Amino acid sequence: MAEKLWGGRFSKETDDLMEQFGSSLPFDCRLYRADIKAGIAHARLLQKGGYISGREKDRIVKALREIESEIDAGKIKVSSGYEDIHSLILDRLSRKTGNLAEKLHAGRSRNDLVVLDTRLYLKEELAGLIGSIQSLQSALVKKGLQYQTALMPGYTHLQHAQPILLAHHLLAYVEMLERDRGRLEDARERMDVLPAGSAALAGSNLKLDQKLMAELLGFKRVAANSLDAVADRDFIVESLAALAMIGMHLSRLAGELVLWSTTEFHFAELDEAYCTGSSFLPQKKNPDPAELVRGKTGRLYGNLLAVLVALKGLPLAYNRDLQEDKEPLFDSLDTVRESLLIMTRVVKTLRFDRKALRNGVTRGFSSAPDLAEYLVGKGVPFQQAHRTVGRLVVWSIEEGKASGEITLKDLRRFSFKFDGQALKLLTPEASVAKKSTIGSTAPARVRRNLQRWRKKLRLS
Ligand code: ARG
Repeated sequence: MAEKLWGGRFSKETDDLMEQFGSSLPFDCRLYRADIKAGIAHARLLQKGGYISGREKDRIVKALREIESEIDAGKIKVSSGYEDIHSLILDRLSRKTGNLAEKLHAGRSRNDLVVLDTRLYLKEELAGLIGSIQSLQSALVKKGLQYQTALMPGYTHLQHAQPILLAHHLLAYVEMLERDRGRLEDARERMDVLPAGSAALAGSNLKLDQKLMAELLGFKRVAANSLDAVADRDFIVESLAALAMIGMHLSRLAGELVLWSTTEFHFAELDEAYCTGSSFLPQKKNPDPAELVRGKTGRLYGNLLAVLVALKGLPLAYNRDLQEDKEPLFDSLDTVRESLLIMTRVVKTLRFDRKALRNGVTRGFSSAPDLAEYLVGKGVPFQQAHRTVGRLVVWSIEEGKASGEITLKDLRRFSFKFDGQALKLLTPEASVAKKSTIGSTAPARVRRNLQRWRKKLRLS
């Protein structure tokens, strides 16, 4: 066991179980690059403040870089033996530079260091996720372009409601993901604050050029309150909330993919590379990635809740409870990263069954709302029009007539306002073509939206 950063105050060894129970190294080891970066910047500040010489700074920086490459190369075991990654790196530094290492921790505490590292790490991770969201958006837009003319039944209550374009349905997910991307950008912007200089909680007596450090590490601002800086985990909660929302959206897409790949729907088929079979049922081809993505939503919500509860009622400033922020955060980041990647591949390779979609869209009386709106255009009050078409639907069910078989004579049994134009509304193509509002499924609007996204996402 390495020497503790706080050994001076103690005469007794820590209990083994306590060592293990308290160590965050098994999970915060992933912060090592951030911790090294933070150490290098801090060394420059100490030099500028006159606490170490230029040569000493160079030695520290060189040693820290070596430690980084050694960890990169797997030469340092980062799984046990230390309280956390900060202690491990300082200990390694002292092995390389002796007493000099003892100078580096001046003016800082693990309380401000741990949030500095986490902010650095998270900012980078979120930037990566923003890219992954855009890849999934691109896959959805490309799929929409590939099936630009395909119609499908639009649902409410999972009952046939109105015909829509498949591309319109896919673009709905692109919009959701765009809000997700925005939330990550917002969270990133708000977390762009340097906590260094706060030390344990009250700030430091040393002359530390925090603005220089912010510049060196790419932070936009310096924290205005040292107490808040070490106690604040809002940036983690915000990220977890945004990640939970991404999971929620992915689970809705995943749920539809599961539904669409059933024998009953058969709208879509997942590529074999993303399906598995059954050990007992030879005929099975299961949409596992979609089910897993849907299932993982639970842990994303759980992680958010775990951190919210850990923070509740916590007095200022640092408390060891705060160490509980990292595992949920890392788990959510990993889960969302992998889910976005797999969903992108699933969507890229997804095949739609045009026949099944066509068959689906002609069933049910999904032109009913178009007929009602047609009557409104002829001056009939909407609710009256609604009743008239309702009666027509009941009649056609009793007669066993599909909407495509209805004649003008049939229509006029229910209202003399119906004419040849109304009859033309009875195809799904006419139904979508008639839509005129912004954001509707009108083919011209969907086409324009596809082009807008194509440009925005810089697709070929
Ligand atoms: N491992 C700790 C954490 O993740 C680092 C900060 C510890 N600070 C302290 N004073 N014990 O929160």
